[in-house]
Amino acid sequence: MTIADEIKRLKKEKNAIILAHNYQSPEIQDLSDFTGDSLELAIVAKNAKEDIIVLCGVMFMAETAKILNPSKKVLIPAEDAGCPLADYLTAEKVRAAKEKYPKAKVVLYVNSTADSKSEADIVCTSANAVSVCESLDSDTILFGPDSNLASWVAEKLPYKKIIPLPADGHCPLHAEFKPSDAKEAKERGYTVVCHPECPKAVRDECDVVASTGQMIKEAVKSDKWAVMTEKDMVHRLKKEFPDKEFLGFETAVCRDMKLITPDMLKKTLEDEMPEIILSDEIIKSAGSAIERMIKIKK
Ligand code: 13P
Repeated sequence: MTIADEIKRLKKEKNAIILAHNYQSPEIQDLSDFTGDSLELAIVAKNAKEDIIVLCGVMFMAETAKILNPSKKVLIPAEDAGCPLADYLTAEKVRAAKEKYPKAKVVLYVNSTADSKSEADIVCTSANAVSVCESLDSDTILFGPDSNLASWVAEKLPYKKIIPLPADGHCPLHAEFKPSDAKEAKERGYTVVCHPECPKAVRDECDVVASTGQMIKEAVKSDKWAVMTEKDMVHRLKKEFPDKEFLGFETAVCRDMKLITPDMLKKTLEDEMPEIILSDEIIKSAGSAIERMIKIKK
């Protein structure tokens, strides 16, 4: 039996579904039932009917799945898969900012801890950050923890005051891209897409700014793309569009996303652990901020 066959057998025996983020290794993407961006994963997890959800991604994604579908057993094959961007913010920092700006609404990027989310009015992902902020009646918004995504939202909604929380929160991978990467790819005939977590100077050089899910929707518009995000996004794009050319950036590796291996996935299904355990209080408070986001159209 191959490992793929064993995973298939275990999945059936345990009535489990495997969800993977677009940044997972090609092997894990290919072993999954569904691959998608943060928002898509949250929605699929919320509606999952299976008894077990195995989330191949990072901790905040597995926590979001548990919060949205608390009666299910949610497993993450690598419990040390964190997110350096999420670590920029603590619930304490959010509370202090709320005291300083009592009239502001708090929008937290889904790349944040469950504790921080419990202090938010609403959560967003990169796919819906602009619509979420637009939907709020407040003109002042505390937005964290990604200052680059905050500046992208501010550009799109110039009539709102978007205050980044903290001022310097960023994803180390996306912050490494340079405007010259985009310029050089354009000179080579590529249409360039970048993730909104890239700095403004990089975004300004790109043809399209998109979440990983939006990159798939946008792909029909050109035959030759340079993709400025985690390198394995290209595997997903190539699967969807085998006739198109996609240029990835080999040094853009999210180490946390790469912790999960097929062996770990199999063991997780066998042992039914590591399991996500959250208090009822966190599920309730963070859950209402996430549920509010799910109700907003993209
Ligand atoms: P997406 O929601 O676009 O998949 O982004 C997730 C992420 O963590 C980007 O670094």
